[in-house]
This record gives sequence, C-alpha cells and structure tokens, in this order.
Amino acid sequence: MSNESLANLLKEERRFAPPADLAAAANVTGAAYAQAEADRLGFWAEQARRLTWATEPTQTLDWTNPPFAKWFADGKLNVAYNCVDRHVEAGNGDRVALHFEGEPGDSRSITYAELKDEVSKAANALTELGVQAGDRVAVYLPMIPEAVVAMLACARVGAAHSVVFGGFSADAVASRIQDADAKLVITSDGGYRRGKPSALKPAIDEAVAKCPQVEHVLVVRRTGQDTAFTEGRDVWWHDIVGRQSAEHTPQAFDAEHPLFILYTSGTTGKPKGILHTSGGYLTQAAYTHQAVFDLKPETDVYWCTADIGWVTGHSYIVYGPLANGATQVMYEGTPDTPHQGRFWEVVQKYGVTILYTAPTAIRTFMKWGDDIPAKFDLSSLRVLGSVGEPINPEAWIWYRKHIGGDRCPIVDTWWQTETGAMMISPLPGVTETKPGSAQRALPGIGATVVDDEGREVPDGGGGYLVLTEPWPSMLRTIWGDDQRFIDTYWSRFEGKYFAGDGAKKDEDGDIWLLGRVDDVMLVSGHNISTTEVESALVSHPSVAEAAVVGANDETTGQAIVAFVILRGSASETQTLVAELRDHVGATLGPIAKPKRILPVQELPKTRSGKIMRRLLRDVAENRTVGDVTTLADSSVMDLIQSKLPAAGSED
Ligand code: WT7
Repeated sequence: MSNESLANLLKEERRFAPPADLAAAANVTGAAYAQAEADRLGFWAEQARRLTWATEPTQTLDWTNPPFAKWFADGKLNVAYNCVDRHVEAGNGDRVALHFEGEPGDSRSITYAELKDEVSKAANALTELGVQAGDRVAVYLPMIPEAVVAMLACARVGAAHSVVFGGFSADAVASRIQDADAKLVITSDGGYRRGKPSALKPAIDEAVAKCPQVEHVLVVRRTGQDTAFTEGRDVWWHDIVGRQSAEHTPQAFDAEHPLFILYTSGTTGKPKGILHTSGGYLTQAAYTHQAVFDLKPETDVYWCTADIGWVTGHSYIVYGPLANGATQVMYEGTPDTPHQGRFWEVVQKYGVTILYTAPTAIRTFMKWGDDIPAKFDLSSLRVLGSVGEPINPEAWIWYRKHIGGDRCPIVDTWWQTETGAMMISPLPGVTETKPGSAQRALPGIGATVVDDEGREVPDGGGGYLVLTEPWPSMLRTIWGDDQRFIDTYWSRFEGKYFAGDGAKKDEDGDIWLLGRVDDVMLVSGHNISTTEVESALVSHPSVAEAAVVGANDETTGQAIVAFVILRGSASETQTLVAELRDHVGATLGPIAKPKRILPVQELPKTRSGKIMRRLLRDVAENRTVGDVTTLADSSVMDLIQSKLPAAGSED
C-alpha cells in the first residue's frame, strides 16, 4: 500500500524546472555532484578553502576512530574572525550585516564594521568576566542583535555557547546550564512578543538559584521593564560591554575546538547536548548557505525566520550567512503582530530576495488567506526555502504561487540539529523540483534509504533514512555521553548514521521524507506514515492543517485518527467529515481512511513547530493528557479536549 500511495501522490505531481536566468548564473551547477562523487574528501577540502585559516589544514577527514570524526584537524582558525573581521578587511565594512526589525517597529541596521566593533567589545567583556577558551556560556535571549553578538563573542574567545530558546521554562534552562556546566549566562530583561514586553530575567534568576557554578549573569536591556538585580552577580550589558575597547585580537583555535552545544529534546529522557566544533561545521554551513540559496552577497537580502535558539538560527542566521558576508534581516516577533501581513511587510520593506521559513508557518499563512500576502510587493523574492518537517505538496504549491509569484524555486532542505547543516535539498539552479520532496543528497553528502536489515531499498521502495558517509558539520558527540552518541545514532545500522526518519525513494531515486519513524502507524499490517495521511487531508480545499496519529485499536492494531483545522470558510458538518474520509480513501487507498476525523481550532505544537503526536494519541486513546510543558501554548490541549467530550466513544 505504501508504494501505491506514493505513486498516487506522484501521479498528479507537477515538476518545476529551475528558472533559466537563475540557472545561468547559479553559484553551483550540476557538475558539483560528479566532482564530489569522484573525490568526496577533495571536494570538502576545496570547500574548506572558502574559510580564512590561521593555519591551513593539510588533513581532511580522520575517521580512524569511528563514529568520532575529526575534520581538518591540523588546521587552526577563529570562527568569529571568519564571520566578521575578514569582510571588513576585504573592504566590505560598510555592507549591512543585519537589518534588525523589532516587533514594536523599531529597527536598526548594523554594518560589518559595526558588528566587528560590537563583537570585539563583547569579547573583551567576556574576558573581564573571567570567561576563557574551553568554558561554556549559556545564552537566553530574544531575537535581538545582541544574541548574534553574544554568540560570536563566545566563538571569538573560544568559549562554547549553549543557546537556550527564550520560550523554555526556568527548569528547562536550569537543567541545560547544569549539564553544560556554564559559568556565565547572557540574558535580557525581556523581549517583545505579541505586542507586549515579555520578561526573561525571572526565569534565569530561578534557574541560576539551582546552578551554583554560575559566576555572572550578563543582562541586555531590551524592554526597559523592572528587573531584579543580584549585586555582584548580575551585570548590565550596556555597562560592561559599553566601556570596552573595540580592539580585540582573535586567537586561532584548532578546527576541532568546541563551538557550541545545542540541546535537542528527544521524545523521552533527558535532553541531548549536541556538540559541534569549528572548522568542519563552518565549512559546511557556509558552503550549503551559498549553494542552496544561491547567495550573491553583494545583492541579496536574505531572511531566515527561525529563532536563534534552534539550530536553524545557529547555522543559517549566524554562522553560514555571516561567514559568507551576507546582508540579512533579523525579526524579533511573531508573524501576526500587529497584523497578519507582518512578514510580507518586512519582505517589502527590505527587498528580501531569499526567504527561509518552516512548513508550519506556511500552513498558517494559507489558513489566514491568500489576500494577505497579495497586498504586498513580494517581487524582490527569488529563492524560497523550507525546513523543519516534511512540507506537504499543497503547502509547497501555495508557497510557490502566493509568495514566490510562480517564479521562485523552492528548496526543501532536510537536516537536523545533529547534522549541523543541510544534507538533502534541491539546488535552485540545477534541480527540477517536485513539490513535497527534498530530493537528493547535496554534493559531498551520502544519504540513502534502507530496510529493517540495513539493505539499501530499490527505487520505489521505503524504509529508514541513513547517512552513509561522515560529513564536516556532523555532531561530534553528545556532550558528556559518548555512549549515548553511539547508541542513538550509530548502533541501529552497522557503519551508518541512523537519522530516525522514515523515507522513500521514488522511481527517479529522489528522496521523500516521511517524518520520524515513531510516527509510522501500523494499520491491519500496513505501514502508513502520518505525513502521507496529513498531506492527503490538506490537499482537500476545506482543510488548512492536519495532524494524524495511530490509536490502539482492538481490530486493526492501530486506527487512524485525524485532527484537522478547517479553512476560514469551511464549516464543520457530518457531511464534510465524511467527504474528508472519502478524499483520503481516494488519494491513498481505502486502508488509509481515518477511522475518526476531529475538527479542532488549534494543534499542539512544540516551540519549533513540530506537532506533539504523543498528546494527540492521549486524546485519541482517551487517556489523561501527559506532560505539556514543551508545548508552545499549553492551553491548546484544554481547547481540544473541551471540544471533544466524546473523544474515544464515537465508534
Ligand atoms: C528533524 C530534525 C533542521 C533544522 C530544524 C529542525 C525533520 C527537518 C525537514 C525537511 C522533512 C524535516 C526531520 C528531522 N525535518 N527538515 N525538509 N523535510 N523533515 O531540526 O529539531 O533537530 O529536527 O526535523 O524529522 O529528523 P531538529
């Protein structure tokens, strides 16, 4: 059934050739695949030369102790120098690095020369606060330029940052500070969110009370709200950074020197501190940013809408774009403050040419209506990116049409916190794109789909996504837990990295991601992916968003239960629900028809936009709903449940 259903999805599928003008001037052509295939390590050694090294590496990959990789191990560099100083030295000091747009409408443009001064001053302040190479610094900030400055200042002095997303609770912050053993925390009084100042410092005060090793808390003033201060421990950013010299000589560190730790919240157990190091990480972040977005630093205005607290913000707001000397927009707030056209207003204001966002945002814009982006001039856009989860073909087509004016290629980029940078994606000047598919591994990357026994599946087959070769920006370990690193990623399939995602290859060998493997349902002995059923539902004109779970079922093993958000104009009737079931049946086959379809107002999502199926499964199986603390909005589950007094008793 699975292969038939994919064939069904593909039947109606359209393909989009790269725009001729973009292809003619593209940074990367199809020859890169052949070059990298002929000499993979030579290809990466060449990419490493896009960085400025204090000592050029002579070694490329050291894989003598797998899965612990070393890349460019005898090279030395300073990551912050590569992201800032060298652009100033090359005569581009007046180029804007960041166009900052605050949620209340304040804005600031910061040139590379100004960024160099700020990063140098902050580096001097870190030194004054006792931070040394090899230390860890926790960063808990809103989306303001100081977040970028703080990360680069850490990199400059050789301290690893651990950025914790500003929406996390005091407990979540405390456990991350503890695990990383950070001695300094950088935060702010607050940030603006949905039109109001929202405090951050109280969570840090509560967290640091449990972390005796923290010596200082460095506080940026953003909102000006009343803020408790602990004498001797807390320091205002504008005081200490403000009075530093803008001279700071960056020291060169080994390519394998730790750059950052970023925690990912596995579905169970304690969060994993993903460790990334310097030379290989920066090489792949810079290469992929330049190749996949076709970045032209002199003319492009790039905007990644992710938060700096996620890996997307690390690799594609801070390290990739700045290493490439890009001009970018940084936006503090939410897409609907003060109105639902805010994103498009920002695109128009700065003439954004490259936009990188997430499927969850795209589906939200679809729900808000086509008329909203239509009010703005989006003609500057030339490349659109997507990341974070599989993008359903319907949302892909909407994105292309209503945001990209049917003219911009879409790059659907698959990667993970663990991979550090993009791994599977179209190239905008090369690939004939297929809505919903990330398509093929980038040059220099090995990825394939294997079955339960680890055998590569033929074209048309499905199974598990694996990475077959080490790559420069790969995680080096889980902080403090080498064994967990081995067990989680390298033990399922001999010699291969197990990504935890289900995937299929189509008849052309292109890869389609099907979500986390724990999201595959087993219905009457058939594997059905939640992503496919969600895609089928969203392809119906009345459905804006869908989340599908498998609920235990006495007869079929699991039964498909779908939660749907209807589009503005659709109203919830028995007829519509029946129509949706038939629509899924017609699209994917009768076995994939949801047993129950429940219209809801909102879906439970994590702060990075991933649907928390565990909670929906609780509802579908009529259980008390579990831990909701990682939800972006914890009231969503109350809404869903209050609407469904009969959940579970319908059949
Ligand atoms: C997981 C990694 C990559 C930065 C943001 C998320 C899913 C990510 C795609 C995509 C299908 C995708 C996978 C992956 N994912 N991008 N283009 N198509 N699925 O980082 O939180 O570490 O999550 O996100 O399931 O394993 P993350």
